[in-house]
Amino acid sequence: MRIIETIKELRQWVADTRAAGSTIGLVPTMGFLHEGHMKLVSTAKDENDAIVMSIFVNPAQFGPDEDFDRYPRNMARDTQLAKDAGVDVIFAPSVEEMYPRQSAITISAGRLAEQLCGKSRPGHFDGVLKVVTKLFHLVQPDKAYFGQKDAQQLAIIESLADDFNFPLQIRRVGTVREEDGLAKSSRNVYLTEQERKEAPHLKKALELGKQAALAKQDPVAVMTDYLRDHTSGKIDYIQFLSYPDLTEKVEGDAILALAVQFEKARLIDNLLFTVKGN
Ligand code: PAF
Repeated sequence: MRIIETIKELRQWVADTRAAGSTIGLVPTMGFLHEGHMKLVSTAKDENDAIVMSIFVNPAQFGPDEDFDRYPRNMARDTQLAKDAGVDVIFAPSVEEMYPRQSAITISAGRLAEQLCGKSRPGHFDGVLKVVTKLFHLVQPDKAYFGQKDAQQLAIIESLADDFNFPLQIRRVGTVREEDGLAKSSRNVYLTEQERKEAPHLKKALELGKQAALAKQDPVAVMTDYLRDHTSGKIDYIQFLSYPDLTEKVEGDAILALAVQFEKARLIDNLLFTVKGN
């Protein structure tokens, strides 16, 4: 496995790999790898000849009061995990390599960022689009892999690829969970012991909400009561929307999503399911 830190070297590897007729799968990450990332890699390995994993904690997607500086990082452990999983290249650029100067051009997630996490994290998805656009141009993958746990991010990236004719496929990979139902996330390490015990109730709340939604009841009310009774976290949002277009008129494919702020960790989770017509 190669670790590449410069755009020049990456471009050379991409040119050589393409010239050899190999397909490329891209797994974008911010590192501190867990089984969710490993599932992205194993799915990518089934569908491509060569795998590039980017590891880059992207400052453009963190707000001024967010956790960019303390975001968990462990390059030595990530390198070993990626190597064991069969990744061919880790692309781990510095911030200066990715963003050598202030960009004059910005990309906006627009309407899709007005719901869910976009409401409480202004600019976050614009920052995601900035780095993902650069990664798509640099790696030129045939397919790129994103987890369903970040369902709004996934919807926005699908729209980016579609609206701007990126010559690649966006692949959705299901959420990986702990045995007790907690969705795997690099930020779970911020949870206190007590919060970790409460965190599986997020998935339970989603299941109750799904039952309510399918029975044509209001999932938000049911979930709010459940979460208030079972966790000490502050509910940031609970929303039931169409998916992937994220409008409030829910018909067909839907997302039920929540975000709960614990002392140091803001956890998100969601379920995607189909609602039959009224
Ligand atoms: O999902 C993430 O880890 C990040 O948002 C991504 C897609 C790697 C962009 O920095």
